[in-house]
Amino acid sequence: MMSDSGELRTKRAADLALLRADVEACRRCAIGYTRTNAVCGVGDPCSPLMVVGEGPGEREDLQAEPFVGRAGELLTKMLGAIGLARHDVFITNTIKSRAIQEENGKRYNRAPSPLEMENCREYLNRELAIVAPQVILALGSPAGKSFLGRAFSITRQRGIWYAGPNGAALMVTFHPAYILRQTGGNMTAVKRLVWADLLAVRQKLDEIARTRAAEADALGVQAAGYEALELDLR
Ligand code: URA
Repeated sequence: MMSDSGELRTKRAADLALLRADVEACRRCAIGYTRTNAVCGVGDPCSPLMVVGEGPGEREDLQAEPFVGRAGELLTKMLGAIGLARHDVFITNTIKSRAIQEENGKRYNRAPSPLEMENCREYLNRELAIVAPQVILALGSPAGKSFLGRAFSITRQRGIWYAGPNGAALMVTFHPAYILRQTGGNMTAVKRLVWADLLAVRQKLDEIARTRAAEADALGVQAAGYEALELDLR
């Protein structure tokens, strides 16, 4: 069996590199032609937690890495607040190219269209299959809708655990860019809600780690038992 820290990590990194090559070659959408870089997921391919945002913005498009702009800085702080380093988590987006609209020769970010999300879904699904996270934290309404359907309402349905892909526990919270757009009391209120959601994620990860440790202990006891049995029979 492959161990989490060795062969498995290498295998997953190789699979993600193949996936990146496919995404870089993809031109299913017009934004495949306007992007500077395709932006695939980064982080620990064996992380129990996958964070899924909406789509790359200008900085991400230039640096070929998700969540490196202002929202990304806040995301890094949010993860840090529950004891997670950015590189210990796998961070990705629903779409892998920057969705833009052009006005007076300038490019602005826009929300991904349903068709763009559908075209890119294969790549998100492949990331989910490779990393096999036990917990998925989706950020913002488009990411929530991509998992829970178009009727998903972030104000009513954030902070709730859902059954996500491949048996993962899924929660949606507000996007860090949304938090940054709030002011005064609104910002405090939104931050409180997000903090509650982050604590729930921390709790879920701890529960999973405890269950894994108990299973490993049981396996150890079983293995010792088999060994003893073998000795008895000799
Ligand atoms: N917002 C997102 O949803 N994703 C990014 O990668 C950056 C900002």
